[in-house]
Amino acid sequence: MRTPLIAGNWKMNMTVSEAGAFADELLNNKLNQGVEAAVCAPFIDLPVLIEKFKDTDIKVGAQNVYYEQSGAFTGEISAPMLKELGVHYVIAGHSERRELFGESDSDINKKAHAVIEAGMVPIICVGETEAERDNGEHTEKVANQVKAALQGVKAEAAGDLVIAYEPIWAIGTGKSATSDDANAMCKSIRTKVEKLYDKGVADSVRILYGGSVKPATVEELMSKSDVDGALVGGAALKTDDYTALVAGA
Ligand code: G3P
Repeated sequence: MRTPLIAGNWKMNMTVSEAGAFADELLNNKLNQGVEAAVCAPFIDLPVLIEKFKDTDIKVGAQNVYYEQSGAFTGEISAPMLKELGVHYVIAGHSERRELFGESDSDINKKAHAVIEAGMVPIICVGETEAERDNGEHTEKVANQVKAALQGVKAEAAGDLVIAYEPIWAIGTGKSATSDDANAMCKSIRTKVEKLYDKGVADSVRILYGGSVKPATVEELMSKSDVDGALVGGAALKTDDYTALVAGA
């Protein structure tokens, strides 16, 4: 059985004091215990969140990492640095990183390896543009992204991975994929993982949907066979909405 996961992705939002206030408020809310909750925050917010959530099941994630261990890489943060802080998840290959910061499939593969080697769990993001979907290229595009991201990742680690299907046209637009379309792509990702590894790995990998998920839509989404959770941007920025998302899952 795959534990459902609701991961918030704050993107470039929340100062340290706002992050602390969010954590305090969230701790006052009762979170649905059957669902894993995670908050992926800007680097500077990670220490306060890790401290506040230390006696809870709420996991803290980073939104990016550099794949080298240490050295002359001004402005970058390595996987061992995040691990020592107590980070659990690291998002790799969000479409905003791919599109705005030029990250390639190969960069994302190196990041996935660095995160796994440090003992954390990557949340690998994949997804097509609107034009690719309109041209019927979406399934192949996503399968190729999955294959490239997992290149060289051993089966032992692959089963613990999280893959997030985030169609680019649905991110921050209010225009979510239908639950059937989201499920079809999550299922196709699982089939790809089975081809790359085996059924055991495919059955245990968690596949999330992301793109304009709201408290009102999460329940329907989660009722689908291959959707194991959601990676949520805008609706994860308010504690009440985030609590409702976890409850709905
Ligand atoms: O990573 C989450 C994401 O890109 C979706 O953002 O605001 O559409 O939920 P949003």
